[in-house]
Formats: sequence, C-alpha cells, structure tokens
Amino acid sequence: MSATENEKKTSPIPKAGLEDVIAGTSEICYIDGVKGRLVYRGYDVADLAENSCFEEVAYLLWYGRLPGKIEYDVFLEGFTGSTELPVETVMILRMFPKAATPMEILRTAVSSMGHWDPDSGNTRLDACMRKAQRLTERMPLLITAHQRLRHGMEPIKPIPGKSIAYNFLYTLHGKEPDPEMVRVFDVTLVLMADHELNASTFAARVTAATMSDIYSSVTSAIGALKGPLHGGANEVVMNMLGEIGDPAKAEAYIKEKLSRKEKIPGFGHRVYRTEDPRATVLRQFAADLSAAKGETRWFEISQEVERTVRENTKVYPNVDFYSATCYHMMGIPPELFTPIFAASRMTGWTAHILEQWSNNRIIRPRAEYTGQLDLTYVPLDKRG
Ligand SMILES: CC(C)(COP(=O)(O)OP(=O)(O)OC[C@H]1O[C@@H](n2cnc3c(N)ncnc32)[C@H](O)[C@@H]1OP(=O)(O)O)[C@@H](O)C(=O)NCCC(=O)NCCS
Repeated sequence: MSATENEKKTSPIPKAGLEDVIAGTSEICYIDGVKGRLVYRGYDVADLAENSCFEEVAYLLWYGRLPGKIEYDVFLEGFTGSTELPVETVMILRMFPKAATPMEILRTAVSSMGHWDPDSGNTRLDACMRKAQRLTERMPLLITAHQRLRHGMEPIKPIPGKSIAYNFLYTLHGKEPDPEMVRVFDVTLVLMADHELNASTFAARVTAATMSDIYSSVTSAIGALKGPLHGGANEVVMNMLGEIGDPAKAEAYIKEKLSRKEKIPGFGHRVYRTEDPRATVLRQFAADLSAAKGETRWFEISQEVERTVRENTKVYPNVDFYSATCYHMMGIPPELFTPIFAASRMTGWTAHILEQWSNNRIIRPRAEYTGQLDLTYVPLDKRG
C-alpha cells in the first residue's frame, strides 16, 4: 500500500493529465466530445456563430442569459467606457525587449494593468464584472498597440461605439477594415470564447479559488494558454503551412512527420472524439475568405494536410487548424494568433472566475506519493 493510501483511503488514481476527471460543476459550457457539440449557457455555438456577436456572447457567459434590448445597450456602453489603454500600460509596452514574444508581453502587460484598474482592490461582484469587461475590451488593444510599437509605429486609438472585432482590425492595420473580415474575425472570437475546463481555464479557477484577484487569475490563464499543446498551436499551424508551401508537398510532409511520431499541430483533442464543431465553421470561412481574396494556396494546403492526417491517424482538426488560414487571410501575422485566442478566451476565463467565487472552495487535490519513506537523515560530514 502506498504512503497516501496508508494515510487515508483516496479515490482511484486518475489517468495521466487528469483525463476524464470531473473536477467540479459548471453552468457555463457543455462539450459533447462524441457528438462534437459545444454549448454556451444552453446555446449551441454554431447558432451563436451564425446569429450572435462576441459582445453578446460575453454578456451570455458572464450573466448566464441573453440580454434584453435595454440591458444590452447599457452593457455596450460599459465596453465603450474602457476603450483606451492606461497611459502607464502603453509606457510599459514601449519598454519590453524587442525579442519578447507577443504572448510574453500579454502575460506581463495584463498583470500590470491591474495596478491602474479603477476598481483595483474592490472585490464586490459589480466591480469584478466591470474588471472582466475592461479586460475584454483592452486585451485586443494591448495586442495591436504592442504589434505597432515593435514595428516602429504609434498605437492607434479605437473608435468608440465600434465592435471589438472592428477595433482589433482597425487598430492593427490602421485603416477601415473590410466588413466581411470584421464578421469572420468576430465569429472566431465567438467560437473561442469558452471551452469548459481546458488547461488555462482550470489554471484561472485554481488561482481564483485561493481568493486571489481577477488579474492574478487571468495572468495564470495566459501563462497556461501560451504553451504549444494549448493555445499556441494555431501559430505553429501557420508556420507548418508556410513550411509546406505547396499543396503537392503536403502529403509527403505529413507522412514524414507521422513516421517520426510527431504530432501534427491543429489536430487532436483531449475531449473531442470526432470533429471539433468550431473547426467545421472555420473550415467554411477559410474556404470563403480564400476564394474572396483569390489566394487559395493556404486553404488547399490545409485540405491536403487534413486529408493525409485523416487517412493515417484517428485524429480530427481542432479549432486551431482552420483559424490559422482565416487569420492569415485577414493579414494577421502568426505570432498574434495565440494572443487573439487569449483575447477571446478572456470572456470565458472571467466567467469561470466569477462562477468559482459564487461557491468557492480552495482547489487542492492530492498526489499519489511514489517516493521513499522512513529514510534517516545523515549529517553532511558523515556522507561519502
Ligand atoms: C491536443 C492534444 C495535446 C491532446 O493530447 P492528449 O489528449 O493527451 O492526446 P494524446 O497525446 O494521448 O493522443 C491520443 C492519440 O492520438 C494521437 N494524436 C493526438 N494528437 C495528434 C496529432 N496532433 N497528430 C497526430 N496524432 C495525434 C496520439 O499519437 C495518440 O495516438 P495513439 O493512441 O495511437 O498513441 C494533442 O492532440 C496535441 O498535441 N495536438 C497538437 C497540438 C494542438 O493542436 N493543440 C491544440 C488543441 S485545441
């Protein structure tokens, strides 16, 4: 009998990576990994992608229901009220080393923004809701401000009253964005807004459950999202498509990778045993945007990659695979793909943090101890 079992009878040892472990209850997001279904607060994500928008989905995730007309107008004013980055944040952005990656910048800059939040230190629910809204509004601006600064350009102020999707593209490129691009970008934000207890959301909840603050919790989440097994995959997908370069070379490239037992970025998922429903929506948008721009090479390479992976493995494309082509078609560089994921997931993270606090108990599991016991300390001068 192991040390932990000896001390107290615990539940059976879970599979590595906590696979299939139910670690708590939540009313925010439902995933059916077998049928390939994703639901936010009762609404199918495909329905929301077609009919809703990112701001309304944020409301849905935070308040648990869709808003009425007047409630929604008031809510949108809250977004407009936080469009500008604190001047101190922009000063900090100017100081980062040129070599720092956008996700590293985001992690540090988001954490620092907590110091200048007007509700800093206020832990009441209404203050936390305002902080969630402020973080959601400001994340895209942080990304575009830093991107411009590191390319020797000044940040651009967003246009009050415009959507988060519009202002992201506007403040990135510095010109009026194409309405179709705004629409597709908005849909990608809707699709990535929440995903149950994924690694970064779990990290956010663990930090929140210690009764730490919202900025610390989302900073934990950003750190977790950064890894290539989680949010970092979409950037790697684009780099892979670039390396392949030609649809005719995709099959050999993928087979070579698989023969070396390498994972193909943008494929596989811990929960889905079929196609990720977000990939289904994004595949169509990737096809449409590519056709509209008359630049179909990346989509064709993606299709060849997908065909080869499907013929040679059991895994399906996930959200990261076709989002890469969509973002590339919008002129967004690959290093911003994961930060955009973070900007969208900010809504889910903060909804989960608020839910955690609504019925909190510190998250503190046990480990099965597999080390030694009953060793006797030998003073250093008596050891060989
Ligand atoms: C997402 C991911 C981390 C899930 O990991 P996991 O749940 O621990 O799954 P496993 O690594 O145990 O994989 C299960 C099986 O699928 C295979 N597999 C999983 N992802 C694969 C991929 N991307 N390419 C090829 N095969 C893959 C594994 O080789 C394994 O096969 P086996 O049962 O024959 O050994 C993993 O699929 C992955 O690394 N994907 C690439 C990165 C990515 O796209 N991440 C974004 C997720 S939204």
